[in-house]
Amino acid sequence: MSQELDIIGRSAGMLQLRELAIKVAATDVTVLITGETGSGKEVLARFIHDHSRRAGKSLIPVNCGAIPSGILESELFGHEKGAFTGAVQARKGYFESADKGTIFLDEIGEMPLETQVKLLRIIETGQFQRVGASETISADARIIAATNRHLTQEVAEKHFREDLYYRLRSVELQIPPLRERGSDILMLTEHFVREFERKHAIAFEGFSQESGELMLRYPWPGNVRELRNLIESLLILERGKKITPDILEKHLVQRSRHKGLVHEPGKSDKNELNLIYSSLIQLRQEISEIRQMLQQVLPYRQHASPLLLPAFPPQPPVAASAPAKEEAPMPLEELEKRAIADALAKFDGNKRKTAQTLGINERTLYRKIKVYGL
Ligand SMILES: Nc1ncnc2c1ncn2[C@@H]1O[C@H](COP(=O)(O)OP(=O)(O)OP(=O)(O)O)[C@@H](O)[C@H]1O
Ligand SMILES: [Mg+2]
Repeated sequence: MSQELDIIGRSAGMLQLRELAIKVAATDVTVLITGETGSGKEVLARFIHDHSRRAGKSLIPVNCGAIPSGILESELFGHEKGAFTGAVQARKGYFESADKGTIFLDEIGEMPLETQVKLLRIIETGQFQRVGASETISADARIIAATNRHLTQEVAEKHFREDLYYRLRSVELQIPPLRERGSDILMLTEHFVREFERKHAIAFEGFSQESGELMLRYPWPGNVRELRNLIESLLILERGKKITPDILEKHLVQRSRHKGLVHEPGKSDKNELNLIYSSLIQLRQEISEIRQMLQQVLPYRQHASPLLLPAFPPQPPVAASAPAKEEAPMPLEELEKRAIADALAKFDGNKRKTAQTLGINERTLYRKIKVYGL
């Protein structure tokens, strides 16, 4: 197994998780992986697959949140020729392709209820039907599911089937957030420094003592993904410099602009005050950016796409500012594209948070990303 696919971390929580993962890997039991965004759910799923007897076969990841609900079922289970308009040929689905291997159902909380019924059946009997087929077929695919949603809440709100939830969580592996993994932060940092030093052929000058301490205190809302992205930015953008708390805070603040700062009571020392101060400056810049955007969009508001509306207050204070009206109007598509690109950048590409902020559904976001080639 390659180093990249191992689970980096030797904190008590991660060691325990790794041991459990190796135990379940030896069986075919369905596993549910939960954990905050960026905490390593996909890494853990690959680790289980690589330690199982299925390692020589494929691991097929399916992002249930990214595939439009109308076609998810035919993607998963396949379809017969003529099953629906456009089904010019019969096609096998992911379950058949994952035969003897593993299927990784990511963002399982997004799966439509009618597809959940079929999934439950395949877990219980190993059998299913292609869309439009009357004949039942079977596939021997081991199922690993993952979510960063609270499935109990989804069950309470009737968005997720209770029977499927209990079936899935017969083995639940919970990945602890990075902020609870202590020295793993340093171990992962070393790992990513080595990875990016090799990739970019740049030598990293290291952290000062104080910035090392700040790394351990920072709450890492984006978990391991955030740490990995930070290391790459530091290496490239602060090339040749030893990382001081000032440099580190500048990068962390940029990352936490929209993630909110987690305040630890009793620990409001100078660094945290600096962090809050920098955030206020960023906030001021954002307000002025929003004001500029409003001035451009104002003449078109009554026709604006519903996608844009939630991002703007109902009565913007910049009312009838004459110069804005004289500026060349920006097409709505362009505005929409910019809003999406901007939000994606602010959330490090996290589609769920981007969709939530823009007030649109995640599938719509995926479609727009494709349409605009973002
Ligand atoms: N323990 C780990 N060791 C090495 N790399 C890791 C580890 N955990 C996560 N990573 C890296 O962090 C990034 C995010 O991991 P991953 O995609 O598995 O997270 P996730 O929990 O599936 O996130 P999301 O909820 O957003 O789907 C990836 O680049 C991955 O390689
Ligand atoms: Mg994932």
